Amino acid sequence: MTDQPMNDGGLVAHGIDTTRPSVARVYDYALGGKDNYESDRALYRQIMKIAPETPVWARANRAWLREVITWLAEEAGVRRFIDAGSGLPTAENTHQIAQKVNADTSVIYVDNDPSVVAHGRALLLDNDRTQFTAADLTKPDEVLAEPSIAALLAGGEPVALVMALMLHHIHDYEQTLEIARKYVDALPPGSYLAITHACNPGDGGPVDVMVTELLEKVKDAFPTLAFRSVEQITSLFGDLEILEPGVVPLGEWHVPGGRVEEERQADIRDAIYGGVGRKASS
Ligand SMILES: C[S@@+](CC[C@H](N)C(=O)[O-])C[C@H]1O[C@@H](n2cnc3c(N)ncnc32)[C@H](O)[C@@H]1O
Repeated sequence: MTDQPMNDGGLVAHGIDTTRPSVARVYDYALGGKDNYESDRALYRQIMKIAPETPVWARANRAWLREVITWLAEEAGVRRFIDAGSGLPTAENTHQIAQKVNADTSVIYVDNDPSVVAHGRALLLDNDRTQFTAADLTKPDEVLAEPSIAALLAGGEPVALVMALMLHHIHDYEQTLEIARKYVDALPPGSYLAITHACNPGDGGPVDVMVTELLEKVKDAFPTLAFRSVEQITSLFGDLEILEPGVVPLGEWHVPGGRVEEERQADIRDAIYGGVGRKASS
């Protein structure tokens, strides 16, 4: 690890390839962030030609995250969070949202993008209840054996595992199902799994046409990206009880007993679905 700055034309942290787009940095750019390079911005411009709602999706996803984390901390009383595929730090990160509700909340971030590792460690660790683990989430046995994660789970208290816009970066459906199952199995009783995921309804309609074209455009840069059906996304929750309103487009999702936040009500072709599942208490 080096503390050299990340910027175009300057020195970059070890392992960061600025010549190829990174999912984390393209997403950062969509959110108006500054931790991105020309390769990321060039791909983003291509994406925007096909899906001009991309920044709306990105903001809706962050609004969903804020709403879910707040509900889990306030209403469900969760004090342990794992943000898996955390992305680059942005305006409101999971630990800031959850620790605003209860300062004693522990948060572990996991990501394997070198840009996120470099910035995440520096910016996400602003207190001793927050940790960052650099790990590949497609290897659940290794991730679950990470000392910080193993210790969090061993406590036996409910944990919220957040996988926002992450599981669709595993290409093979059966592998994704198996990975999700391993993580869910490791969660203590009463835990939660919160997912947002790229969706292709597969009905030949406007979203289907758009995401098919989009996937073709980004396949060289992001070869493992997979848009899945609602049924496939729902199946990632395994045996968990899926909370209302179910696995639905982000523009329709609301916390149990609540209503859709204004920020997510935009009239767009909604290709991002979200849901929250709860593991039975023993
Ligand atoms: C689009 S970003 C989403 C960031 C954040 N979760 C959010 O929803 O705002 C997806 C993140 O997942 C991470 N990711 C993808 N595949 C991963 C893997 N196998 N292991 C760890 N992180 C992964 C990427 O590096 C990226 O930071």
